[in-house]
Amino acid sequence: MTTIFDPVKFGDIELANRIVMAPLTRNRSPKATPNDLNVTYYEQRATAGLLITEGTPITQQAQGYADVPGLYSPEAVSGWKKVTDAVHRKGGKIVTQIWHVGRVSHVSLQPNGGAPVAPSAIPAGGKTYIINPDGSGAFVETSAPRALETAEIAGILEDYRKGARAAIDAGFDGVEIHAANGYLIEQFLKEGANQRTDQYGGSIENRARFALEVVDTVTKEIGAGRVGIRLSPTTPANGITETKPQEVYNYLVNELGSRGLSFIHVVEGATGGDRDFTQGDKPFDYHELKNIYRKAGGTGAWVVNNGYIKDSAEQAVESGYADAVAFGKLFIANPDLVERFKDNAALNEPDKATFYGGGAKGYTDYPALETVA
Ligand SMILES: Cc1cc2nc3c(=O)[nH]c(=O)nc-3n(C[C@H](O)[C@H](O)[C@H](O)COP(=O)(O)O)c2cc1C
Repeated sequence: MTTIFDPVKFGDIELANRIVMAPLTRNRSPKATPNDLNVTYYEQRATAGLLITEGTPITQQAQGYADVPGLYSPEAVSGWKKVTDAVHRKGGKIVTQIWHVGRVSHVSLQPNGGAPVAPSAIPAGGKTYIINPDGSGAFVETSAPRALETAEIAGILEDYRKGARAAIDAGFDGVEIHAANGYLIEQFLKEGANQRTDQYGGSIENRARFALEVVDTVTKEIGAGRVGIRLSPTTPANGITETKPQEVYNYLVNELGSRGLSFIHVVEGATGGDRDFTQGDKPFDYHELKNIYRKAGGTGAWVVNNGYIKDSAEQAVESGYADAVAFGKLFIANPDLVERFKDNAALNEPDKATFYGGGAKGYTDYPALETVA
C-alpha cells in the first residue's frame, strides 16, 4: 500500500515523500526581492516532498500585494537562487508559483500607477494590502481594472514565458502555474469576471483559451515535466463566480490531459474554508474531474489541498485518489511537518496574526521537534 511517506515522481521531479507545502504568501520580501530570512524559512521546511513557493508575480503588473517576492528583476532571481540552493543542499525540491493577479491589485502597486488589467472591466471587490509612501501599511479596496485588448494578450503570454525562464535561472525544479483563487487565469475561466466577446470570452472553450495558452507557452519554454498547475474549481476567493464549474473544469482537464504536465494541484472547496463549498446547481465531483484527466491521457501527479490533516491525507493517498497532499497552515506552524507526521507528534498551532507581513516572529521561529541524540 502506498503511504504519504513514499517517494513519487511529479513528471521530471522526484519527491522523497508525498507531503507537499502549499503556496503561502507571507509578505516578507520588501522590494519584491527574496532575502536571507526567506532563505531560512524555506530551508527549515525542506523535508517536504515538494515546496511550492508563495505566489511569485512575473511582472510588476502581475503583482497585487505589498512585499511579495517577484521573479522579474536580476536581484529577485539571485535572491531566489539562495533559497533554491539552501533547499537543494538539504535534499529538498522546490517549484515557484508563477502568478498574475489580474484585477486583484491596486493602482499604487502598478507600473506608473495605471489600472490593473483583467479580462473585463469588472472590479473584484474586496481588499488588498499596500505600503503607503510614508512606510505605513494599509488595507485598501482593489482598484477598478481595465479590460485587456485582444492584441495585448500575446504580451502577457510572453511575461509568463520570461517568468518560467527566470524560475529555471533561479534554480527551481519547476513551476506551478497559479490558475486558482480568483486571479488572472481564473478571471478568464469563470463567467463572473469574463464578459469578453473575442476568442477569449463567451463559450467555455473560449474562456479556457488563455489558461491553455499559458500552459503551452510555459511548457514550451521549460518542458512539461517541470510544469504543474493549480486549480480551484469552486472557490469564491477574490469575488470570483461561476454557475457551471463542473463543465468548465471537466473541459479544462480534458485539454490538459494531453499536455504532459508534472502535476495537477486541486484546491477542493472554498480556499481556506468549507471543503464542501460549491457554486452552481450541484456538488462538485472531484473524482469525476480526476477520471476525465486520466482518460484524456493525463499522467501528472494528482495533488489535493484544503483542510487536510494527517488522517484525511493518508486516506486520500492510501485509497489511490490522490498522489500527494498539500498542506498550507500546518506548514506555516510546523517546519518539520513530515517528521511530526512520522512520529505522530503534537503540532504547533498557526498564529493568524503573523500570516501576512512582519519579520521572524510567526515565520521562522516556530520550533521543530527536539532532535533526540
Ligand atoms: C497565509 C496564507 C497565504 C496564502 N497564499 C497563497 C498563495 O500565494 N497562493 C495560493 O495559491 N494559495 C495561497 N493560500 C492558500 C493555501 O495555499 C491553501 O490553499 C489554504 O491554506 C488551504 O490549505 P490548508 O487547509 O492546508 O491551509 C494561502 C493561504 C494562507 C493561509
